[in-house]
Amino acid sequence: MQNPKEIAGRRAAEFVEHGMTVGLGTGSTVHFTLVRLAERVKEGLALRGVPTSIDTERKAREWGIPLATLDEVAAIDLTIDGADEIDREFQMIKGGGGALLREKVVAALSRREVIVVGEDKLVTRLGTTFALPIEVVPFARGPVERRLCALGAEVVVRAREGRTYTTDNGNLILDCRFAAGIANARALERELAGVPGIVESGLFIDLAHVLVVGKQDGTCEVRHKA
Ligand code: A5P
Repeated sequence: MQNPKEIAGRRAAEFVEHGMTVGLGTGSTVHFTLVRLAERVKEGLALRGVPTSIDTERKAREWGIPLATLDEVAAIDLTIDGADEIDREFQMIKGGGGALLREKVVAALSRREVIVVGEDKLVTRLGTTFALPIEVVPFARGPVERRLCALGAEVVVRAREGRTYTTDNGNLILDCRFAAGIANARALERELAGVPGIVESGLFIDLAHVLVVGKQDGTCEVRHKA
C-alpha cells in the first residue's frame, strides 16, 4: 500500500513550473515533495527554493535543489507545506515540527500556498486532534503560559528526548490543548498576536489556497479554496 503522505507530497511537486521561486515547507509529507523536486531538478527543472527550516535546507542542499534566502527573492510564486490539522475553510494548525514561524513568514509572502496532507489531518474543528503550538521567547515563558491558561488552554512546554525543545530561532514551543477544540480560530489568532512574548502561533488563517490530500486507497484529491 502506498503512503498517503508520499502520494500527496509527490503530487504537489507537479505544481512547480520552470523558473519559479518556491517556498519549501517542513515535515514528513513535504519530505516527499522535496524528493520529487530533486528528481525534477535533475531532469532540467529550474527553480529557487526558500526553505522554512534548517532541516529542509539541509535536505534540499544534499539533494541538489537550488536555494535562495528571503533577502534574495522579490516574491515567492508557490509554497508547498504540510499541516497538522486543516478544516473545511482551509484554516490550519501547523508547527508540529516546530517550524511554524518561518513557515508563516514564507506563507504570507507566497502568491499560492499548496498544503499536502494525509486524510487523517482533515478536521471539522481545529484543536480537536492536535495541540496548538505557540512559539515564545524564553524570557517571557512564565507570563505567556499564565495568559494561555487564562484563555482556557492546558499548556505543555515542548520537550524532546528529555530536554526542552528549542526552535531554529532559539525560542520555546508551548503546546496548548483546548478541551473542546478552538471555537473561533480567527479571533484566537488575533488575540495571541497581541500577547508580548509570543513570537507566532501555529494558527494559519487564510493562508492556504490549494489542498492536496493523499488517501489510504492510493488516490489523491486536489481541492481549491472556494
Ligand atoms: C512543521 O513545523 C509543521 O508545520 C509541519 O508542516 C506539519 O507539522 C506537518 O508535518 P507532517 O507532514 O510531518 O505531518
